[in-house]
Amino acid sequence: MCGIIAYFGNRKAVPVLIDGLKKLEYRGYDSAGICLLNEGVPAEQGLLYVAKVKGRVSELEKIIPSSEVSKIGIAHTRWATHGEPSEVNAHPHFDCKKEIAVVHNGIIENYGALKEILENEGHKFASKTDSEVVSHLIEKFYQGNLEEAVVKALKLVEGTFGLAIMCKGEKKIVVARRGSPIVLGIGENENIIASDAVAVLPYTKKVIYLKDNEMVVLTENNYSIKNFNGQEVEKIIDEIKWSASEIEKKGYKHFMLKEIFEQPNAIENTLRGRIDNDSKIKLTVDIDLKSIKRVIIVACGTSWHSALIGKYLIEKIAKISVEVDYASEFRYRNPIIGAGDLLMVISQSGETADVLAALREGKNKGAKTLGIINVVGSTVAREVDSGIYLHAGPEIGVASTKAFSCQVTALLLFAIFFAQHKGEKVDKELISEIAFLPGKVDEVLHESDKILEIAKKFKDAQDFIYLGRGINFPVALEGALKLKEISYIHAEGYPAAEMKHGPIALIDEKMPVLFLATKDNTYSKILSNMEEVRARGGQVIAVVNEAGNDINNLTKNVIVVPKCREEITPIINTIPLQLLAYHIANLKGIDVDKPKNLAKSVTVE
Ligand code: G6P
Repeated sequence: MCGIIAYFGNRKAVPVLIDGLKKLEYRGYDSAGICLLNEGVPAEQGLLYVAKVKGRVSELEKIIPSSEVSKIGIAHTRWATHGEPSEVNAHPHFDCKKEIAVVHNGIIENYGALKEILENEGHKFASKTDSEVVSHLIEKFYQGNLEEAVVKALKLVEGTFGLAIMCKGEKKIVVARRGSPIVLGIGENENIIASDAVAVLPYTKKVIYLKDNEMVVLTENNYSIKNFNGQEVEKIIDEIKWSASEIEKKGYKHFMLKEIFEQPNAIENTLRGRIDNDSKIKLTVDIDLKSIKRVIIVACGTSWHSALIGKYLIEKIAKISVEVDYASEFRYRNPIIGAGDLLMVISQSGETADVLAALREGKNKGAKTLGIINVVGSTVAREVDSGIYLHAGPEIGVASTKAFSCQVTALLLFAIFFAQHKGEKVDKELISEIAFLPGKVDEVLHESDKILEIAKKFKDAQDFIYLGRGINFPVALEGALKLKEISYIHAEGYPAAEMKHGPIALIDEKMPVLFLATKDNTYSKILSNMEEVRARGGQVIAVVNEAGNDINNLTKNVIVVPKCREEITPIINTIPLQLLAYHIANLKGIDVDKPKNLAKSVTVE
């Protein structure tokens, strides 16, 4: 995680770096720092201006004097791994003479051994971070050429890094990547480096994505890309499709709320051009699906919940066996996978370290790989055999919302696509109903004020239970995750029938229990579970698509969603749970877009 940015151009660097850091804050926001190469003096004497704070980028911004007019600088927003959030642990980190400045995203796994060697050689460390070893290593090898020293240092480093480095006396910025994303934005007489294209978008749409073991050297009006052996590398210049306005809040209080309300449009974009007039699903999946005997889906967090829904959909519609695993677990259990298996990876960012590791594991063992990804050009997108992009637009709020509903939409399309390739019969009604999905999501959004009233009643609860069955069990998990992520209320998701095997012990008058009770063949069973909660004094919240007396007699906290086929219910039913979590967190005064301890893109294992 962490966000890094570097600027070398013709305007004042501070506003570019600060604005970029604010856009990268979703990657971490416990401390921030900046380093500028002071111009006003010849490059050989160039001084470094440094500012660091514990806390948000807005705090950093306050302490930088407007007299800082340098046009060259690097900056960082941190999500602590090694060393608590503090000013001294904030980046940039320096060598002993404070002449080499480094910002780092990733983890230096052998930092302990390197630090010991360097300390024995007399290097004095200021921080508790793993990152600081990089600046001292560069110092060790520095003989007047920063680029050469960086290459020598990186040969000794194990782990992952996105690095931006400057030093006093050289008018350049050296950037290197292994395992952490780096994008170069190419502007008019200016170049910007960042961990994510959102930070370069206000200045240019022309970008180059770095691969592992590549570096960029920025100099006056110029850039060069090389591998770690110093050889120049030919790169394709990509064009960012998102517009700068898509990463603004557009009048919403939080990005999360904006993204919840963008869902009809986002789903429309996921569907666009993918269902033809003959009800055939059109996806560019260049994998011989007839040869696939089994599907394994790996993901993390919210994406793991859509993977669970994907299992129901693919097994039901394409009639092929599906396993789902946490990417982090999959990788370390020496999984049995190989030819004949399709490894699907689901990742909004396409940069999650555990997902990447699982993908590589499956690939090495001979499986075909398919990605469901939102961020175009991301590492997962580039490494999979084939991919399905969500086209959901940038998701900035740390808690994932529109990416989830678009992932499930893409999985539904893929399940039908797979079935059609295998010659399985797919109900045409299902395909035609998909077209109504954006409109139905919009209907649920109109319930926001009613959900706010329910949020007011339950905002002070200490715990919550979410229950659902079948394809809506993962929705219960997702609802519980959303609530704990942004409101800090402890919440558990369970299959409704499992309640009696444990969670029922927790139920009393203080415990809200949210039921996903849209009509399907388990509806009567769910009603019985509600009775069991009521009998123990628990408070029921029900998401239903038919509000009859049976429900109204049990609770006044009813959220009615439009009717739809069972395969579509997970998308519809998730929307009220997102809104409930949002309203509760907002009523509690929490910074919904930046909840404590979390980061959106988890690029460390
Ligand atoms: C982090 C985020 C979650 C996200 C998960 C997986 O934990 O806070 O919101 O679901 O990473 O991210 P991915 O980008 O791989 O979908």
